[in-house]
Amino acid sequence: MSARVPFGIRPLAPALGAEISGLDLLDTLADNTVAAVRQAWLDHQVLLFRNQNLDDAQLTAFSRHFGDLDSVPGWEPFSPPGHPNVLIISNVREDGTAIGVLGDGEASWHTDMSYLDQPPPGSLLYSLEVPDRGGDTCFMSMYAALDALPADLRAAIEGKSLNHDSSHDSAGKLRSNHSAFDNVSVAPGARHPMIRAHPETGRPAIFLGRRLHAWVVGENIANSEALLDRIWDHCIDEAFTYRHRWQPGDLLMWDNRCTMHRRDPFDAGARRVMHRTQLKGYQSVEAAA
Ligand code: SIN
Repeated sequence: MSARVPFGIRPLAPALGAEISGLDLLDTLADNTVAAVRQAWLDHQVLLFRNQNLDDAQLTAFSRHFGDLDSVPGWEPFSPPGHPNVLIISNVREDGTAIGVLGDGEASWHTDMSYLDQPPPGSLLYSLEVPDRGGDTCFMSMYAALDALPADLRAAIEGKSLNHDSSHDSAGKLRSNHSAFDNVSVAPGARHPMIRAHPETGRPAIFLGRRLHAWVVGENIANSEALLDRIWDHCIDEAFTYRHRWQPGDLLMWDNRCTMHRRDPFDAGARRVMHRTQLKGYQSVEAAA
């Protein structure tokens, strides 16, 4: 990165992640600063901005530097009034009613809304209240996972597509407007190549979405499950990950095209309040050559 970048960049883990320092996101950011943040995001896959003090309008304004925003279908009631592009992720209940989604349980490894034909390229998560223990968010580099993939396994998924189930959320819960099914080959959702070139960097990455209810298109169920188990066993390796221990005022921005993430469970009696935005999907992605 050139010496003219107007902020500091400190890598967080060998495979991915960088902390950006010296930027107050409340300031009006010059075009060249926004371009440098975007480049750092493409280079490091996950960016961390600590000690921010953003309200929902400011979170929305910062997020819009990187594209149009989208909301999550079905979760519209969990946006703060007047901020339809902000989603509250929280276990807190007020007057018996949940103020947000995903509760206090584990959110298993996933890529946001990969069950759409045009999934969101990136997401931003801002912490307002965090528990003393638990609730860490972990990120995995799917570039690094592909780079280290044994040749036979790479050959087994090259040219194959995966069906990404749309009927369950990342906490494994059946969404309210869907019915349960036994056979994953009939799961609703979108099909994406299992190895895809990132549309901006051109670098190939594995694209898995979620493990539960996934199906390798065209394979019988037993073969699909066996292949997915092998791929997932390979990917879930700490060498490809960064674990984020939250502080209030942290903003994380991740690239859904080359990362996955999961969240640890936390004490149901603790409060965790996060506000999230996501960028709108803009194009379908071709299989990597
Ligand atoms: C998410 O999966 O978008 C939420 C992650 C978290 O709550 O840390």
